Amino acid sequence: MKLVFFGAPGAGKGTISKKLNEEYGLPQISTGDLFRENIKNRTELGLKVSSILEKGELVPDQLTISIVEMRTKNNDCKNGYILDGFPRTIIQAENWEKISPIDKAIYFDITDKEVMDRLSGRRVCPKCGQIYHILFNKPKKDGKCDNDDETLYIRPDDKEEAINNRLNVYHKQTEPLIEYYTNINKIVKINAVNSFEDVYSEIKSKLKLK
Ligand code: AP5
Repeated sequence: MKLVFFGAPGAGKGTISKKLNEEYGLPQISTGDLFRENIKNRTELGLKVSSILEKGELVPDQLTISIVEMRTKNNDCKNGYILDGFPRTIIQAENWEKISPIDKAIYFDITDKEVMDRLSGRRVCPKCGQIYHILFNKPKKDGKCDNDDETLYIRPDDKEEAINNRLNVYHKQTEPLIEYYTNINKIVKINAVNSFEDVYSEIKSKLKLK
């Protein structure tokens, strides 16, 4: 099954993809994670995209498409994958439908206010990528990852100014995907304001996953 997860920043796409990956083995391909990995390793790509991510702007379409295309050629993707945060422009979506048509696009519907609350409290493990929240999804030990005891960090684009910019970019460039995927009959709308458990079971039920 080839799935797209799209929605505002902080809607819960990463958290849910990781859970689906654990339960069903579907690889999670997060363009944000791929870019951050390159930034961390100071690759040529990382140096090119670092300031774009920090400001909350979008990486150019062709560059993003080619990275996803390369990643989906890996053997682990032969039975499908979750594209987490890609496509996020009409150009990316149209190109991807030509390259490798998806089965369903899961739209995480959430309010801007909820996004602000979620992103301002998000903490991430630098080693395993596990996502926490200081109120809604606390680690067992304050500031430490449950999996590997690493010190959790705050993403540089989770500062208020960058969050506002990401929301503007989202409304302008990504929201038109709702109409695009509705028109090609691939959209599945999820109420992402609900608790993690409710969001997860709504997705499983709408995708008919046992
Ligand atoms: P990316 O990493 O994809 O960021 P994003 O889309 O802004 O999404 P986030 O990772 O911020 O949020 P999420 O929806 O995964 O939420 P999460 O599960 O973490 O992209 C980063 C940057 O890379 C972009 O700004 C851009 O520059 C570039 N980029 C990436 N893809 C691109 C593309 N296709 N084209 C061009 N540029 C691209 O949850 C958030 C918080 O909420 C967590 O603390 C979590 O614990 C909590 N939470 C989750 N679910 C719930 C719930 N149900 N109830 C309460 N709390 C919850």
